[in-house]
Amino acid sequence: MPASAEIARTVGRHRQRIEDLIAAMTVEEKAGQLNLLADPFRWMPTAVNPLDGTGDPARVTALIRAGKVGSLFNGIGAEAGRRIQQVAVEETRLKIPLLFAADVIHGLSTIFPVPLAEAAAFDTDLAYRTARAAAVETAASAVHQTYAPMVDVARDQRWGRNVEGAGEDVLLNNLLAAARVRGFQGEKGLADRDAVLATAKHMAGYSAAIGGVEYNTTDMSEQTLRGVFLPPFKAAVDAGCLSIMSAFNDVNGVPASGSRKLLTDILRGEWGFEGFVVSDYTSEQELIAHGFAEDARDATRLAFNAGVDVSMVSGLYMEHLPGLVASGEVSMARLDEAVRRVLHVKAALGLFDDPYRGMDAAREKAVVGSREHIELSREAGRKSVVLLKNQGGLLPLKKTQKIALVGPFADDVDNVWGPWTIWGAPERRVSLETGFRAAMRDPQNLTVARGSGVETPLAGGIEQAIAAARDAEVIVLAIGEATNMSGEAQSRTEIVVPAPQMALVDAMAALNKPMVVLLRNGRALALEGNVKNAQAIVVTWFLGEQMGHAVADVVFGDHGPSGRLPISFPHRSGQQPYSYDRKTTGRPANPDLASEEYKARYRETTNTALYPFGFGLGYGAVTYGPIEMERDVLDWAGTLDLAVTVTNAGPHTAEELVQLYIHDRVASLTQPGRLLKDFKRVTLKPGESQKVRFTLNARQLGFIGADETYRIEPGLFDVWLAPHAQGGVPATFRLVGPPSISDGR
Ligand code: BGC
Repeated sequence: MPASAEIARTVGRHRQRIEDLIAAMTVEEKAGQLNLLADPFRWMPTAVNPLDGTGDPARVTALIRAGKVGSLFNGIGAEAGRRIQQVAVEETRLKIPLLFAADVIHGLSTIFPVPLAEAAAFDTDLAYRTARAAAVETAASAVHQTYAPMVDVARDQRWGRNVEGAGEDVLLNNLLAAARVRGFQGEKGLADRDAVLATAKHMAGYSAAIGGVEYNTTDMSEQTLRGVFLPPFKAAVDAGCLSIMSAFNDVNGVPASGSRKLLTDILRGEWGFEGFVVSDYTSEQELIAHGFAEDARDATRLAFNAGVDVSMVSGLYMEHLPGLVASGEVSMARLDEAVRRVLHVKAALGLFDDPYRGMDAAREKAVVGSREHIELSREAGRKSVVLLKNQGGLLPLKKTQKIALVGPFADDVDNVWGPWTIWGAPERRVSLETGFRAAMRDPQNLTVARGSGVETPLAGGIEQAIAAARDAEVIVLAIGEATNMSGEAQSRTEIVVPAPQMALVDAMAALNKPMVVLLRNGRALALEGNVKNAQAIVVTWFLGEQMGHAVADVVFGDHGPSGRLPISFPHRSGQQPYSYDRKTTGRPANPDLASEEYKARYRETTNTALYPFGFGLGYGAVTYGPIEMERDVLDWAGTLDLAVTVTNAGPHTAEELVQLYIHDRVASLTQPGRLLKDFKRVTLKPGESQKVRFTLNARQLGFIGADETYRIEPGLFDVWLAPHAQGGVPATFRLVGPPSISDGR
């Protein structure tokens, strides 16, 4: 349901009550509604934030009683939630219910694949379903809002939070942002028992941190901001998202959490957003460290007037808004507006009808970690796996083969969830070893050795691995990154498999047996040496609690691999930042020439990807016919039909993801060499051919022009129907129409 309709429908009945409340509130009580603190009462087994902002339960209880807290975050639990809510509803002057929020990023109790992994499924329905399941568990645990989805487009794999998003492509980010918002919020309105409020974060440009350094400055053209980084936020708002989190970083010199342009002019003025903006964990306070605000009072004034409605953790709004209103530096109208936004969302969530929604312990027990959700986690896991290489058809493995499973992740359960998991059930985590043994005909045929730690060698590890591999027919290497190597504040300089694991791989390669590499990773990796040269390479990310089973489903062929890379795997770390949709430059390099001077390339490698965006193999062997187009002209108001015939010449069923890319040959601003515009999935039995059809229209072909508006320019376009961003043979068509069309905004 569109956000405005939601607000109109649900708030409608409470609009007058909210106005009456605002009229009755003291300035302190108004500031209190905008004060969001960490929940000191409820269960949070894993710390996810840098400082202990949680505070003392007695102090926070006193603040709630005084009407000085509007929301709490990162506590879950129905029964305790009821007790806290009771304080707000029964012991405060105005009896306004609290809003409870939490970082439910890829599951509450049932842990699904990390969002980057799930993006590899290129499946909006899957993203919708996992978000829905997460919402059902969250809503039943006395939480009304999640701080997800993260919709930051990630083009520098050194940055650690790629793991939390949908990768490097704008279209895929847009589609998954919308699907995840709809999944969290559901179709029946926010007041529904199973709905949670979604929060698109972090607006904006957070992922464009210079050098991939967490929290770093971003500096970009208006075209890049509006053409790459803002669209997924717009997609989230259009899907009904009623909360936005402002980012830590500065953009072109203005900290995002102090940017009126981002948080008011664009978000509200251009997009019509009606929800509230929440700061990211003290980001309003950080205007001081940015050198943008003089002190805490100044930071409050700047952030609040820019459009940050709610302050997370710092307590600054509670402390300074009353004084700022008294001095006239913040208007009462602005204060009322922010309070109104928060109360409208509380009303939309049904909190004024039932402040105790989601506080039924019996229901919590019934839905959290349900069998259905666990099954969905395994399904999502296997659909997220990407097969990069399969020389000689080494995969799928036979269930009767003698297998050595070697590497730090062979029997590990600590790194199956991945980052941003707080309330998972540790006992449900499935290791690769467990998954393999369950799938194999004779589990005795599996030998297991860690061989190495993740970043440090293991004493005697390599000898143990060699012993484990002695009688094996195939060695499966479970290597890569640990959970704590990606996620917030986990930027890396080299995106490689750590050296001690490379030594283990070299020792295994010396045994001259077939090797399968199962990569565990929260970002793209630059694969080197014997990892790169292994016969088979599989990207298994962090697949969530059912990881061992999900990987076994694919490795043993019960499910053919169907994932595609949502991020490019480069040849070298030094290619970062990297995305497939780069400009051609004035001196495009020929990727097929080993070295070519005075071209846009490095000395050591072509500036292509080793495994490009969109790449992924199945167990079939799919070939593409030429593009079929009836005409090579697209009329401004018309459509252009395109088709390609794909054939599976292999012995196994294949799921193929046919991708449509375009290149605007000549434009008033230089354009990407390729840009994804659509994709379609087909299932092909051995020997089967299918024609896959697409339709293009002019609206899909525009870009942000020099005047900062979306414009469409006639002229020649290349178009590919291809298996990935570096594949296929283009056809050409001409867009005809007025000289150039701008939406004028
Ligand atoms: C993160 C946010 C998160 C918040 C609350 C911050 O450090 O950047 O994404 O929602 O903490 O835990």
